[in-house]
Formats: sequence, C-alpha cells, structure tokens
Amino acid sequence: MKKAEKRKVVLIGTGMVGMSYAYAILNQNLCDELVLIDINKKKAEGEAMDLNHGVAFSGGNMEIYAGEYSDCRDADLIVLTAGLPQKERQSRLDLLKENRKIFESILHSVLQSGFCGIFLVATNPVDIMTRIVYEISGFSPEKVIGTGTALDTARLRYLLGEKFMIDPRNMHAYVMGEHGDSEFVPWSQAMMATKPIFDLCGETKGCHFQELLELEEEVRMAAYKIIEAKKATYYGIGMAMARITKAIFGNEYSVLTVSAYLQGEYGESGIYIGIPCVVNRMGIQRIVELPLGGEEKQRLHSSCEMLENTYQEI
Ligand code: LAC
Repeated sequence: MKKAEKRKVVLIGTGMVGMSYAYAILNQNLCDELVLIDINKKKAEGEAMDLNHGVAFSGGNMEIYAGEYSDCRDADLIVLTAGLPQKERQSRLDLLKENRKIFESILHSVLQSGFCGIFLVATNPVDIMTRIVYEISGFSPEKVIGTGTALDTARLRYLLGEKFMIDPRNMHAYVMGEHGDSEFVPWSQAMMATKPIFDLCGETKGCHFQELLELEEEVRMAAYKIIEAKKATYYGIGMAMARITKAIFGNEYSVLTVSAYLQGEYGESGIYIGIPCVVNRMGIQRIVELPLGGEEKQRLHSSCEMLENTYQEI
C-alpha cells in the first residue's frame, strides 16, 4: 500500500500569530511534521515543548521541534509570520521597510536549503510581503500565496451570518483587494445560500443596503478595534492560515480569497492582491474572475494602484 505522503510544515516566526497557527494545525491534525524557526531559538524550543505536551490530546501524532533553515529542504509548506506586528493606530503599510529587511535575510537562508515547496505568507502588509517573496524566490506564482483577505472574508461572513441568522458557511460573500484600508466587498456577487443578498434588501424587507455597507466598514476596521483592545490580533489570522493549509494538503480545490499574483485577470498585472482563488495541493490552481460591476472594478483597480505605488516607494 502506498505510504501516505508526509506533510511537513516549517513555521518561521513563533510570535502570537505563528503560534496561534501552530496550535490550530495541531488541534486539526493538518500536518505530520512541524518545524519551528525563530531568531530567538530558545523561544522556538519552548513553544515546541509546550505544543508537544498537548500532542497526546490531539488525536494525532504530529512531530514538533525547533529547527534550523536546513530543515526547510524537504518541507512541503513554509509559513512566514516573522516581522514587526501592527501597533495601535498603525497601518499595515507602515511595517513595510522593516519587514522587507527581515524577509531578505530569511529568504536567503530558506533558498540556500534547496526548498521547492509552497510559501504561505502572513506578515503584513501581506500583499506586498507576498510579492517580495515571489520576486526574491523566483518561484512560480501559484506556489507563493499570501493570506490576503481570507480573514476579512471570514469576518464578513460571521457578521452576515449574525445579521441574517444563517450559518456563516452558507454566506457566499467575499472581501477583495488589499488586506487593509482599501479592501472592499463586491456586493453584486454576494449570495445567501442561492439567494442574491440584494434580494434580501429593500424598503419592505427590513434590511437596507446601507446596513451592508456598515458591515463592510466594520470588517475593514476590525483589526484596528481588536488591536486597540488587546494590542494584537492572532487567533483569527492563525485559523485563516490553518484553513489555507487544509485546502493545500487536502487538495481541496476550495475557493479562498488569498493574495495571488494577477497576470491579466480583472485587467490587472504584476500585483499580489486578495481575490477568490481555487486552492489545491499545488497551491493556487486558478484565479476565479467574478463578473464585477463597474464601480467594483474601479475599487479593485484603486486597491491595485495603491499597492503598486507603495511597492515602488520601498
Ligand atoms: C488582521 C491582521 C492579520 O487583520 O492584519 O487581524
């Protein structure tokens, strides 16, 4: 019988985001081997020890250890969370210069190992950081994935589920664009089960479109609010990263709004941005082109423009 393929993940950065991800994949048994790398080796060792003491409760037998960059060689997935976290009232784009320097050093060591798997990037500003990984690594774009607006889409679906009393998994609505202030919801494409959300709004239906726009703004501001309350966000993004990992290792062909490289789709090229993509064992299997309305196309274009201008300023 063919031996099951060993699913090996290397997590670079054992801060709260990285460890929330590690805790999620341990509890969901999403990989067989998890290597923790951090500039603070002692921290990585402590985190590995702490997680290992939970393996007996996980229902699985994940091998977890603090490792070196040489351990990247045969990894299937490298998850990048290293970098400075967003502070109160700080935009994600403010982190760029420092996090780029950190990535240049990390990627040099990763590429030296001979790694040839998939990159999953979570470090903010994630769309630009993912583009930096793509350009430095030289990997094909489908193997360089950013968390994009996957978390924002989950936030939107949670809020829509609360509003319409429906399981969020049956709310088919997406957040697109930059994972940040210029993200938007293409409401023309939003469905509750098989019913267009627009059909649920109107004078006699107890829901006005303005209320949906307020939900959209609540999603856009969510991270700022959480950071103001608890200094950082990590559980939501950690679970979003686990969801992307599950789609990859499960060869799911699931549609997730990850940060992907546009090569003409939506009339845009040369940019990483959050869009609906089919995700499978090879990474991004294909980009889903939604029939956006005119104003929605303009919002996506503005978001692309903002990311490109920021990238050129680095
Ligand atoms: C947030 C971080 C991951 O949106 O950017 O919570």
